[in-house]
Amino acid sequence: MTKDSVQVGLVGLGFIGKIHAHAYQAIPYCFGNGQVQANLRALLRTHVGSDAELLRSLGSPFETAQPQEFIDQDLDMVDVCSPNYLHPQHVMLALEKGKHVYCEKPLAANLTQARALAQAAEKAGVLTHSAFTMRYYPAAQQAKSILASGILGEIYNFRAYLFHNSYMDPQRPTSWRLQKDISGGGALTDLGVHNIDMVRYLLGDAKWVQCRTRTFITQRPKSAGSTEMVPVDVDDWALCMLEMENGARGSVETTRMSGGITDTSRIQIFGSEGSLEINFLNPLQVSLYDRKHAQTTVGPTDFPLADGQRPLKNIYPPAKLSMGTFIDTHFASIMDFLHCIQENKPSPAGFSESLKVQEILEAAYLSADRNGETIALPLV
Ligand SMILES: NC(=O)c1ccc[n+]([C@@H]2O[C@H](COP(=O)([O-])OP(=O)(O)OC[C@H]3O[C@@H](n4cnc5c(N)ncnc54)[C@H](O)[C@@H]3O)[C@@H](O)[C@H]2O)c1
Repeated sequence: MTKDSVQVGLVGLGFIGKIHAHAYQAIPYCFGNGQVQANLRALLRTHVGSDAELLRSLGSPFETAQPQEFIDQDLDMVDVCSPNYLHPQHVMLALEKGKHVYCEKPLAANLTQARALAQAAEKAGVLTHSAFTMRYYPAAQQAKSILASGILGEIYNFRAYLFHNSYMDPQRPTSWRLQKDISGGGALTDLGVHNIDMVRYLLGDAKWVQCRTRTFITQRPKSAGSTEMVPVDVDDWALCMLEMENGARGSVETTRMSGGITDTSRIQIFGSEGSLEINFLNPLQVSLYDRKHAQTTVGPTDFPLADGQRPLKNIYPPAKLSMGTFIDTHFASIMDFLHCIQENKPSPAGFSESLKVQEILEAAYLSADRNGETIALPLV
């Protein structure tokens, strides 16, 4: 690390790799003098030579398809944006060289792989961070503070959902996301994982999970326009019921087949003294009902930060420099980790957190395979 700049190696420049690259580039616009910066130094990817304009705008980082050549660059941290089944090999590549690791969700395609990565990271003594970016919505951080204050009393129940319509078209061809052996699962693994993390982030660990899943479109074209069909073996829809260690029970529902609803997520938490709601379409404001005053407040709250939270004003783009909520939250998650590296301090979203999420995912699929049987956590 040069004085204030973390040297980053990025793996994968697909959809999310580009969002991360954009975030690194935007840091000096949003946070100038005196704040930690990042330098995108190297890129490991399959399509070397493509995206020429984009790469020029990113300062022409060194690019290669050879893992060894990539990791031999002078890097402080590796940012893994490859498909899920490649996370283990790319995370290990970084750990073996003692680099800090930022990894997209889920940590791996199954619990065995995730455990091995979390253990290897611990042994390597490096800092880790998982891209659970919903934690970085301002409304989510306000909700965390409200819950930490205890104002909602005993938490009774909760409901979280995330609805996408990204796979409605039966002619949409297959991809790595639709093959269980490489993705680890479908809608629940890809999208529901965010809400599983949010429920843990807000309410603590889970005691058990029950789950049912459905695959509505069971085969898809092998490639765009092809008449050859290949099977889909992952869930299009999943409904989990969870009981948390604090006694609260609730549901996490996820679909990629919600016609007419593009990208909608809500979390509602109900307690003996009030309730709150995060509507991710209204990312800056939490809705809080306080029974004592029989009053609902919608807007930013000024509860003290919950333990371990970095003030958003230090990591979230200022309002007039917003790049849109999706990028802003990825930006804030990355900034949080860059600060952790600068301070040599563990991240609140390290691999030990993503390991717990992966464990709930695995237990949920086990439950679905057994017709909704209750699966106790932690898994042995
Ligand atoms: N946190 C979020 O909001 C969010 C959103 C989308 C995706 N993701 C996660 O990001 C990861 C990537 O998803 P995506 O949508 O960008 O997928 P994608 O298919 O668009 O991109 C994957 C990239 O990885 C590259 N790649 C493939 N094999 C490689 C290899 N051997 N070495 C180096 N690069 C390789 C591909 O060339 C491609 O550029 C997944 O884990 C996904 O779950 C997270």
